[in-house]
Amino acid sequence: MSEKTLTVLGSTGSIGRNTLDVIQRFPGRFRIHALAAHNNVEMLADQIDVHHPAVAVVFDPEAASRLREILPGNGATAVLTGMEGLVEAVSAPEVDQVISGMVGSVGLRPTYAAIECGKQVAIANKETLVLAGQLMIEAAAESGARLLPMDSEHNAIFQCLNGNGSRGLERIVLTASGGPFRDLPFERFGEITREQALAHPNWKMGPKISIDSATMMNKGLEVIEARWLFGLQADRIQVLIHRQSIVHSMVEFVDGSVIAQLGLPDMRTPIAHCLAYPDRLPLDLPRLNLAEVGKLEFEEVPPDKFSCLFLALEVLELGGGAPAALNGANEEIVAVFLDDGLLFSAIPTVLGQVVKKLKEILKQPEPPAGLRDVGSVKEALDADRWGRDAALAIINHAAYPHRSANIA
Ligand SMILES: NC(=O)c1ccc[n+]([C@@H]2O[C@H](COP(=O)([O-])OP(=O)(O)OC[C@H]3O[C@@H](n4cnc5c(N)ncnc54)[C@H](OP(=O)(O)O)[C@@H]3O)[C@@H](O)[C@H]2O)c1
Repeated sequence: MSEKTLTVLGSTGSIGRNTLDVIQRFPGRFRIHALAAHNNVEMLADQIDVHHPAVAVVFDPEAASRLREILPGNGATAVLTGMEGLVEAVSAPEVDQVISGMVGSVGLRPTYAAIECGKQVAIANKETLVLAGQLMIEAAAESGARLLPMDSEHNAIFQCLNGNGSRGLERIVLTASGGPFRDLPFERFGEITREQALAHPNWKMGPKISIDSATMMNKGLEVIEARWLFGLQADRIQVLIHRQSIVHSMVEFVDGSVIAQLGLPDMRTPIAHCLAYPDRLPLDLPRLNLAEVGKLEFEEVPPDKFSCLFLALEVLELGGGAPAALNGANEEIVAVFLDDGLLFSAIPTVLGQVVKKLKEILKQPEPPAGLRDVGSVKEALDADRWGRDAALAIINHAAYPHRSANIA
């Protein structure tokens, strides 16, 4: 089997580290052209030492200088910076597959560039599809790029469809763990600390997606992601809470057949599936033992408790740049929460106010660029920016109580 050459965006994050873990298990099967991170140069230097990429990208120029100082191996790895560096790292002719594993909308430009170049693109960075799903699908159709869903739920659906596209498909069912607060009464959401919100019961992930899982905004983003990856309207995408995180998602066909993909919650399985696609890698990881699991439970999502999911459905219905605006707002709000600047219970409140403002502004004859229609990556990022500004204006205006104030 021929060696596959990869660029890993977000190599120091949870997805990136799991990707490198899988790669290291199969010597001679993969070669790393480029690794990219934001500013964690210590970890990146260690990764360079192991994988010897031709290129390392450090988004932050000051951090890039630090990497150059500590880089092992006397300059065999070129250090690039900024968005230009990321785009160069994905576009190199020798790259077969790009792992889109950065967090947030900053991943859109390099992911889109990889698609335009016709690469295989394994997408974990769901925010890119929320911002510009239609553009990405259209660009892939034009360039011949293959998009491989790496998010566990979408990878599950991709596996269930088994290359048959949407033939005979009635709907898909995305499963959700329900996060750490599925059993906590909504009245107590104001007491939730950052550490509690970061402690996901089933998955080990980066901080932003962990908070999104706790609010269930993650599932809202995933519905939008599925809408584009599988070409389905929202009314054919159901969400169910499945606390064991064993059934990663399901598809239902017009004859009533339901096919599900099961496995232990370990991102290395969907990652390996994308890395080897269309082959399979013999992964030596703990295996699912259903007798040990005992029972698999499914329940509806309580709307009052997890309103973020329903806000995402609302913006999907609004269309155009509304999902991008919601995404930008959510990224800002989560960053403020992680910085101890907001109560957990304020996250859906602020998002709800952003969506209200968005609906009002969309009634204007000429709303701001990108909000009504997303015709380019720039317009998607404009809509994302509008959402960020709207969220920050609401937070600052209302002077929401800080989490630390609540604890005291
Ligand atoms: N973690 C999971 O299990 C999981 C599962 C499904 C989907 N996803 C999705 O995958 C994406 C990554 O999640 P994660 O949990 O791996 O996040 P994470 O652990 O926070 O890692 C984020 C990565 O992105 C890098 N990064 C951030 N901004 C960057 C920039 N401007 N330029 C270059 N690199 C940048 C970070 O670099 P530094 O380390 O230098 O900051 C880090 O390598 C998210 O969209 C998430 O929703 C994750």
